[in-house]
Amino acid sequence: MEGGGVHWVHLICGVLLVCLSISSLVNAEDPYRFYTWTVTYGTLSVSGSPQQVILINGKFPGPQLDVVTNDNIILNLYNKLDEPFLLTWNGIKQRKNSWQDGVLGTNCPIPPNSNYTYKFQPKDQVGTFTYFPSTLMHKAAGGYGALNIYARPRIPVPYPYPDGDFTLLIGDWYKTNHKVLQQSLDTGKVFPLPDALLINGQTYSSFSGDQGKTYMFRISNVGLSTSINFRIQGHKMKLVEMEGSHTLQNFYDSLDIHVGQSASVLVTLDQSPKDYYIVASTRFSKRLLNTSSVLHYTNSHTPVSGPLPAGPTLEKFWSMRQARTFRWNLTANAARPNPQGSYHYGRIIPSRTIVLANSAPFINGKQRYAVNRVSYVNADTPLKLADYFNIPGVYSVNTIQSEPTEGPASVATSVMLATHHEFIEFVFQNNEKEIQSWHFSGYDFWVVGYGNGMWSTATRRSYNLRDTLTRHTVQVTTKMVLWAKHLR
Ligand SMILES: *[C@@H]1O[C@H](CO)[C@@H](O)[C@H](O)[C@H]1NC(C)=O
Ligand SMILES: *[C@@H]1O[C@H](CO)[C@@H](O)[C@H](O)[C@H]1NC(C)=O
Ligand SMILES: *[C@@H]1O[C@H](CO)[C@@H](O)[C@H](O)[C@H]1NC(C)=O
Repeated sequence: MEGGGVHWVHLICGVLLVCLSISSLVNAEDPYRFYTWTVTYGTLSVSGSPQQVILINGKFPGPQLDVVTNDNIILNLYNKLDEPFLLTWNGIKQRKNSWQDGVLGTNCPIPPNSNYTYKFQPKDQVGTFTYFPSTLMHKAAGGYGALNIYARPRIPVPYPYPDGDFTLLIGDWYKTNHKVLQQSLDTGKVFPLPDALLINGQTYSSFSGDQGKTYMFRISNVGLSTSINFRIQGHKMKLVEMEGSHTLQNFYDSLDIHVGQSASVLVTLDQSPKDYYIVASTRFSKRLLNTSSVLHYTNSHTPVSGPLPAGPTLEKFWSMRQARTFRWNLTANAARPNPQGSYHYGRIIPSRTIVLANSAPFINGKQRYAVNRVSYVNADTPLKLADYFNIPGVYSVNTIQSEPTEGPASVATSVMLATHHEFIEFVFQNNEKEIQSWHFSGYDFWVVGYGNGMWSTATRRSYNLRDTLTRHTVQVTTKMVLWAKHLR
């Protein structure tokens, strides 16, 4: 699925092909957590009228996974849909374990009426993550959920433990059935605009806390195509974590969160005892949508009031400027006791540069999405299996160039090769009208810069080579470039 501004980096398949081998979960010291999940269809009135949704154990969103760093997760999933189904664990690094990543390059979808057991450890990770279906537009019908990874008891986090914890899965929503959306994309139509924004699968929700206490809000964008801005009336948010990186703890009135991204903020209920609006609204969208929820002080007798607090809508420089303020706390640990800041990424010389330009060409009369003029077609055989069993003819390694060139676009099952431990500089050039979210499945990277216009080697002088975040998903605003990311 490649639609509505969401790009999957198929390059990763190539990276995985050469560097990973099958490995089992072996760490007898870490606790095991067992889950049994059943995926079914259900009918819910999500935004006004009844529609078909995808439930996990009868729930939409799916069950919240609350785990601790390095837990062994053994999750048996039964697919009771009439279509193959596949879940991906968004942001989980799956070190030497990419067979559990749950994307088409690495896994076969789980056929209807069968089961598959996922086995993975969130190795050395702490933070707010999500899971979601990675194929067949299933995400448009639900099947997603929260994956919160807590630090081990002996490992301190660089902020006071909050008095409570709220998880907010926010995303665009389509009233159209996911199979109709599939067909629409397959026949080469442009992806439609969403009908609504949801918080935790609802258009109304409420979170309640005690005056004077501090709560963590774990916010993720689980939508298909729309960036959001998030804010809480009358309250400031202290950013503490983003996709597993502990950040400099700056205060924000509102935060942009793009498709696939997550952030954890601390909010102190330091206002007068009332109810306050929690608001999410769409960014850069042709049709402005918003949704609200309620922050209820337990001693409040006053319902929410006043206009919804306004947020940015089309301002793209605002977004880029804010993104530049997300920085690593170099003295804070992550899940491991050793400071991550001791890892001087800025001193590593990348072995090469790959410039990737996204485009939305028409090929044989159909709307497709391409990277450096190659529009990816999925192979029936997962790429890693083709590699592992030496099956020729499944994918091609020379179709996609490492920088944009002029000419017509074509389709291919394209893979770029990389070497184990190679350190690569990536430039994402977005000359299209829609914002793009780039996700490195099973990896993270340093976002060393964002900017406007064309990248050149001189741009490197403005890189943040000291304290930028590592993340798994990054936005590239329209007509802008994301300068260089280093893959590790
Ligand atoms: C789960 O799948 C395995 C094959 O992977 C099969 O042997 C087993 O019978 C299935 N279990 C159930 C309860 O369907
Ligand atoms: C939220 O949406 C409503 C209805 O479309 C609109 O009237 C209102 O101005 C929006 N408010 C904000 C803050 O975006
Ligand atoms: C960085 O983390 C340390 C804990 O190691 C914390 O005390 C400090 O406040 C953090 N600094 C900033 C600027 O967020």
